[in-house]
Order: sequence, then structure tokens, then C-alpha cells
Amino acid sequence: MEDLDKLQTHFVEATAAATSLDMLEVIRVDALGKKGQITGLMKTLGGLEPEARKAAGQALNAAKEAVAEAIEERKLALQDADLDHRLEAERIDVSLPARPAEVGHIHPISQTVEEIVAIFGEMGFSVAEGPHIEDDFHNFAALNIPPEHPARQEQDTFYLPERADGTRRLLRTHTSPVQIRHMQAHEPPIRIIVPGRTFRADYDATHSPMFHQVEGLVVDETTHLGHLKGTLIEFCRAFFMVDDLPVRFRPSYFPFTEPSAEVDIGCSHEGGVLKIGAGEDWLEILGSGMVHPKVLENCGIDSTRYQGYAFGMGIERLAMLKYGIPDLRTFFDSDLRWLRHYGFVPLEAPSLVRGL
Ligand code: DAH
Repeated sequence: MEDLDKLQTHFVEATAAATSLDMLEVIRVDALGKKGQITGLMKTLGGLEPEARKAAGQALNAAKEAVAEAIEERKLALQDADLDHRLEAERIDVSLPARPAEVGHIHPISQTVEEIVAIFGEMGFSVAEGPHIEDDFHNFAALNIPPEHPARQEQDTFYLPERADGTRRLLRTHTSPVQIRHMQAHEPPIRIIVPGRTFRADYDATHSPMFHQVEGLVVDETTHLGHLKGTLIEFCRAFFMVDDLPVRFRPSYFPFTEPSAEVDIGCSHEGGVLKIGAGEDWLEILGSGMVHPKVLENCGIDSTRYQGYAFGMGIERLAMLKYGIPDLRTFFDSDLRWLRHYGFVPLEAPSLVRGL
């Protein structure tokens, strides 16, 4: 019986010292398993006298229960500790942002196009498009730029290889050919803008061989120079978000318009910093004019009945002025640091109501 007391004490102490469920299981098997030490003593009962067997049996049962109870208690404690540990380790910090910060940005060219489309869209213009690869007729001849015209040299055209019939196609040097394509395919009234890529063999801080323009064209029976002026003044003020922005129309020449005007906006250069708004200086930002009657006729439109205006502007130039971007070449370097700096947050579409 003394041995039994020692055995019980041994197992209860070992149980209290167990630090894992695995250790506890080893102790249980050692004490109460099929070949366990207490189980082993149970098997010796059969060899005892009935009186002694009864007493020994009771003592053994009590010891067995005590050990089993100690193990069960320890097991619950270890399971609790284990759960606490997991809860601590797997804790979620609910103050963390639900989604990682967005990484993509809208390129300033895309943003500027959207702003321009939003402004002219409010004025009732719709967007038209045309091909990048053009022919001589659409890019030059139909726009009243005949073969020997100096404008052809000025525009540093990229030509494609000569074709079997001796003609060469070209990368459009401006968005104006879309005027021709649209007038050939649609009856007036016409009221479109044409944002798109254009190409010229030129490369420096203010020129890139691929750049963007927006063309505008309005043709109907009543539109006159006053409409051209009103529309472009409104556009400049909305785009640069300066209500009293001075806008000046300076007589100019384009083969496809008559009369023609270049449009300047007011600015100042105080302390070497360019500021758009009332000031002592002017910045040229677009070309415009009343559509030349020959251009209408080239598209099969009766110039004694219809008239209208057209304009064209460089998108990079507008973006550089509005957003203070100093070098045009950087637009197309695909430098992510540049895009992070000058780019725009997606899903914040520009509108006249919410802001450009
Ligand atoms: N196509 C001209 C250019 O690339 C820009 C231009 C000027 C377009 C006057 C027009 C316009 O429609 O009326 O320089």
C-alpha cells in the first residue's frame, strides 16, 4: 500500500509538471494505459485473499481515480493555455486599413483628356476618332494643304514605305484629318472633339515624336466667329479654373481656316514662377478659325449653306501648363516615380460639378 501511495504521488506530481498535452498523454499511458503501472497492479488483485483483495481493490480504485482526475484537470488547463496562446498570436488589428493603398495612377495625359472631354461634353460636343495611319488626302490635300505647301515641310512627317501605286501613307501629323473623315461620313449639324495621338519627327524638351492633340469641329447653318470666341474663352477659363482668365485672339494663318486665330491666355512670370491668370504676359495655347469653304467642299458639304469653326490644341502643353510639368519627354519615359508624383488617383473622374 505504501508503494501505491508513492505511485499515486509520482503520477500526480508528474501530471502537475507536464507542460504539453503530448507529455500528459505519455503520463496517462504510463499510469492507466493497458500496460500502465496502476493497471498492472489491478491485475495482481486476482491472486489475493478475498478480504485483502477488497481492501486493495478499493485503494487501487481510489488511486486510479485520483490520477485520472489530476490528468483531466491538467488537460483542461493546458487546453485553455493553448487557446489563449493562439488567440494572442492570431489577433487581428481592426484598425489596419481594409485594403492596401492603391498603387496605380492615372497618367496626366489621360487625366487632361478626361478634363477636356468633360468641359466640351457639357457644351454639347461628342467625341470622334480616326486612324493613326493616314493618307495624303486626309492629312493634307483635303485640308487645303497642296503638295508644295510649306506646312508639309514644317510638320516633319513620318512616311511609310512607298506602295505599288507609288503613294506613301503617313503617321498623321495632327488630328485635323478626323475633321475630313467625320464630314465625309456625317451630315451637319456637326459638333465634335477629337482627342488622339499625333506624330512628328521632332525631339526636345517641348517636342516628342508622338504627342497628343484635341481637335474641335462645329458645322451648321448659323455658327459664326462669335461662337468660336465664346466657346474657346469658356473652355480656357474652365480648364485652368481661373474665372477671369484673360483670353486673346491673335490673327494667324492656317490653310484649313479663314479667318484664322491663335489663342493666348494671360500669365505672369513673377520671381521666375509661371502663373496662369491676369498678368503682363501671354501664352499661346491653341489654333483656331472658321472652316475654309474649300475644306467643306472637299468633303461634299455645300459651303454656301453651311459654315462653322475648328480648333486644335496640344494636350501635353495644356497638361504641362496646368500641372507644372517642366519637360515634355518625361511624359513617355514610363518612370513610375514620375507617375506617382504627377499621376492622379483613379476613380476620381473629373467633372465640372465635382472639380477638374
Ligand atoms: N492642325 C493644327 C496643328 O497641328 C492645329 C489647328 C489649328 C487645328 C487651327 C485646327 C485649327 O482645327 O482650326 O498645328
